[in-house]
Amino acid sequence: MADRKKLPRYTVPSLTREAGDKLATILQERLNSLTDLHLTLKHVHWNVVGPHFIAVHEMIDPQVDAVRAMTDALAERIATLGGEPVGTPGALVKARAWEDYSLGRATAIEHLGALDEVYEGVITAHRKAAKDTEELDDVTNDMLIGHLHELELFHWFVRAHLESAGGDLSTAGARTEVGAARKARSAEAKDAG
Ligand SMILES: [Fe+2]
Repeated sequence: MADRKKLPRYTVPSLTREAGDKLATILQERLNSLTDLHLTLKHVHWNVVGPHFIAVHEMIDPQVDAVRAMTDALAERIATLGGEPVGTPGALVKARAWEDYSLGRATAIEHLGALDEVYEGVITAHRKAAKDTEELDDVTNDMLIGHLHELELFHWFVRAHLESAGGDLSTAGARTEVGAARKARSAEAKDAG
């Protein structure tokens, strides 16, 4: 693998090579995040159980496809900017600042609670990346904003399951995926009781 510190030999017209390099670094982090997300979504698709299995199982696959398409756009933008996209799993695990998704086989409501946490983290970081590219490059910024349109919609699909008729989220105040799953499960049990 080439030295990541080296500036690209060329970048898109009207940007400096330094700007191209900075953008590629920001995008590599988003590529890691969204590669992790589409793999995690498949893991949920395979491990969800219980009475609401089919609704969640089927809701997830279009999200997997859309997020995977976003990773392709991110990687190709890095290459377009003159950078070198890194897409191998080992490099992703080495570079990421977060842990693996913490639920295995679990009910629909538990996975939805945990996914609320996952989307919260991914969207917060994606919005920061969009802000950080705003002054540097409209085209990269526009791509990230485009992703956010879809990611925030998917987050709402997840959250709609966690919302009470009064509009409160059962996962409010949770700090971890397991904590959010627990809160979602107990709200559901309360509704049923
Ligand atoms: Fe499947």
